[in-house]
Amino acid sequence: MLDNNHRVINYLRLSVTDRCNLRCIYCMPEQGIQFISHSEVITYEEMLHMVGLCVQKGIRKVRLTGGEPLVRKGFIGFLERLCLIEGLEEISLTTNGVLLKTFAADIKNCGICRINVSLDSLKPERFLRITGQDCFERVREGLEKAEQVGFNPIKINVVAMKGVNDDEILDFARLTLEKPYHIRFIEIMPIGEKNTWPAEKFISAKEIQKKIKTLGDLHPVGRNLLDGPAERFALEGAKGEVGFIGALSNHFCDNCNRLRLTADGHLRGCLFSDHETDIKTPLREGKGDSHLLDLISDTILNKPRDHGLLPYKPRKCVRSMNSIGG
Ligand code: GTP
Ligand code: 5AD
Ligand code: SF4
Repeated sequence: MLDNNHRVINYLRLSVTDRCNLRCIYCMPEQGIQFISHSEVITYEEMLHMVGLCVQKGIRKVRLTGGEPLVRKGFIGFLERLCLIEGLEEISLTTNGVLLKTFAADIKNCGICRINVSLDSLKPERFLRITGQDCFERVREGLEKAEQVGFNPIKINVVAMKGVNDDEILDFARLTLEKPYHIRFIEIMPIGEKNTWPAEKFISAKEIQKKIKTLGDLHPVGRNLLDGPAERFALEGAKGEVGFIGALSNHFCDNCNRLRLTADGHLRGCLFSDHETDIKTPLREGKGDSHLLDLISDTILNKPRDHGLLPYKPRKCVRSMNSIGG
C-alpha cells in the first residue's frame, strides 16, 4: 500500500532477535545492554501471523535481521514456514556470518534467495577489535560455504570508519574483481542511546567512492524495484559490484519502501524514528485481524517523510540497532 507521501511500502525488515554473538563497536555497547526478556520477544508463531497480515497490506519482500538471526533457536524451522507464505516474492537474510558455515545449506534449502553478510575487515586481528570476537576465519569459511551452496549474489556490508578500516576500502573493492560479491560501504549511523556518536569516524559515501575511483571507472548498475538503499556500481571487468549506502549524506528517504518489526513486536515506520506501534500486545490480547490490519495501515500511512539527520549533526534514536535490525 501507499503511505501518506505516495511511497509504495512493500518491504518488511523483521528483527527475529536482539541477541548477538558479536559486539560490533558501532552497534552494541560492551556493557549495559538490556536485552529484551524472553517473554517479550515475539514468538515465531506471532511473526508468521504478522507477516501474513503485512502481505495483505502489500508487503512482497521480507528481510530477516537481528541481532544475529542465526543465534535464535529453531530459526531454520521458522524459515521453512515463512517460505510457505503465499504472496512473498523474496525472502532474504542479513547475518554476521559467524554461524553461516553450519547453516548455509539449510538456509538455501528453505528457499532463501539472498544473504547479506556484515564484514568490516579482512584482517583477523582488526576483526577482533571491531567485533570483540576472534571469528574472522569462521566468517570467511561461512562465505565460502554460502558460495558453494549457490547463494548469488552475496552482499557484504562494510561499515566504513575513519581510522578503523578506511585503509581497507580499496582491498574490499578489489575483491569484486575476483569474486561475485556485492560489497556495500555503509556510512556509520548514530543509533542507540548508549552509543556515543563517533563523529570523528564518519566517512561519507562520496569520499569512499572517490577513493575507489582511483582503481578505475565506476559504471552504474541498474536498480530493481525491490532494491534497498544502496547505489550500485561496478569496476571495469569486475565479477561483483560495489555499492554505497549513504545513510546520512544521501537522503534516500524519498524512495523508502520499508517497514520494520522489532524483536519485541513493535512496528516502526522509520529506522530513526522512535515512533512505534505496539502490535504484540493486541495480538496477545486476542484482538482480531481487522484491528491488527488497521494498526499496520496506520503505521504505513504515518511513516515519517524522512529521518531528518545530517552528517555531523546527529540526533540519536533511543532503541539500539540490535533490536531494530538495521
Ligand atoms: P538489500 O538491498 O535488499 O540487499 O538490503 P538492504 O541493503 O536494505 O539490507 P541490509 O540488512 O544489508 O542493510 C544494509 C544497511 O542499510 C544497514 O546498515 C541498514 O541499517 C541500512 N539500511 C537499510 N534500510 C535502511 C533505511 O531505511 N534507512 C537507513 N538510513 N538505512 C537503512
Ligand atoms: N551504522 C551503520 N551500519 C550499522 N549496522 C549496524 N549498526 C550500524 C551503524 N551504527 C549495519 C551492520 C549490518 C547491518 C544490518 O547494519 O553492519 O550489516
Ligand atoms: Fe551483532 Fe550485527 Fe550488531 Fe554486529 S552489527 S553486534 S553483528 S547485531
